[in-house]
Formats: sequence, structure tokens, C-alpha cells
Amino acid sequence: MNVLINEAKLQKRIQQMAKEIESEYQGKQIVFLGILKGSVPFLWELAKNIRNDIRFEFIEVSSYEGTESTGNIKINKDITHNITGKDVIIVEDIVDTGRTLSFLKQYLLEKQPNSLKIATLLSKPSRRVIEIGVDYIGFEIEDKFVVGFGLDYDQQYRNLPYVGYIE
Ligand code: IMP
Ligand code: MG
Repeated sequence: MNVLINEAKLQKRIQQMAKEIESEYQGKQIVFLGILKGSVPFLWELAKNIRNDIRFEFIEVSSYEGTESTGNIKINKDITHNITGKDVIIVEDIVDTGRTLSFLKQYLLEKQPNSLKIATLLSKPSRRVIEIGVDYIGFEIEDKFVVGFGLDYDQQYRNLPYVGYIE
């Protein structure tokens, strides 16, 4: 396993993102809507550095993929509280093609939140198929398959404290 982003770098960058969110939301309540399972470490690192009243919601999705991902996304576990009128930030581990977030954004907008933003720890801009506006990006990375800090390879490696890649 090779280290791409070590623990100290992750922590430092996430703390900066937290400050940015804190100053933009000025004491408002925020709903962190985490996409299971990969977003959990990032969501927690971000949330614990923000002093606003933060509520947690989680959603789990999976995409039916044949050889190429089709964008047919299924909700396995839905949110449990109403987000109508709330200030929501979708929290994701990585934006790759953009299909998951594009689907989720549409789905969640139908519930009429007061605002809806997106925060992702990682982004692979060269892989984007659907252009999607991402409000907070931790790190832009090249087209490499990464694991750790929530990200998995076949459900493995999520608990690594850093972001790494396998040769
Ligand atoms: P998208 O719909 O193509 O943007 O897919 C995003 C999802 O694909 C993420 O939530 C991850 O679960 C997964 N994914 C994309 N790239 C990687 C990677 O490098 N490592 C682990 N999971 C990834
Ligand atoms: Mg994911």
C-alpha cells in the first residue's frame, strides 16, 4: 500500500474546509447528509471541527453497473428525517463520474431543502461524465484507484487512517 495523502495532510485540509463552512453558515443549523459508507470518517472529521448545530442524516445508494456504470442508482437506505426547509450539505468520499451525486442532488432537491451543497474529500476531475457543481473539495487527485479513510476496495481498507493506493 502506498500513501497518497497522509493523516496530517488530511486533518489539516479538513480543518480548513470546516472553517470555510463555519464562516459561510454563520451559526445556522446544518444537516450533514452522509453517503454511506465511505463518507463516515470524512463526515466526522469535518463535523467535529465545526461549532454549528450539525444534524446527521445518512443515505446508502448503489449503482447497477454492467460493464459501464449506467447511472441507474438505487437507494438502499433512505434518510429518516425531513429535510424540507433545511440547510443541507451532502458529504461524499469521492466524486468520480459524477453520476451518484447528480442523481442524489435531483432526488434531494425534490424534498425542497432551503439550500443544498456538496462537500467531497476527493475528486477525480478527469473522470467526470456528468458535470456537477461541487462546493467544497478536499483534494483533486489523478485517475488512480484509492482506498482508506472510508474508501474501499471490495469493502476492504475503509479503516486505514490515510488515503492510499495499491500498485
Ligand atoms: P461516481 O458516481 O462515478 O461519481 O461514483 C462515486 C463512487 O464511486 C464513490 O462514492 C465511491 O464509492 C466509488 N469510487 C470512485 N472512485 C473510487 C476510488 O478511487 N476508490 C474507491 N471508491 C471509488
Ligand atoms: Mg461512495
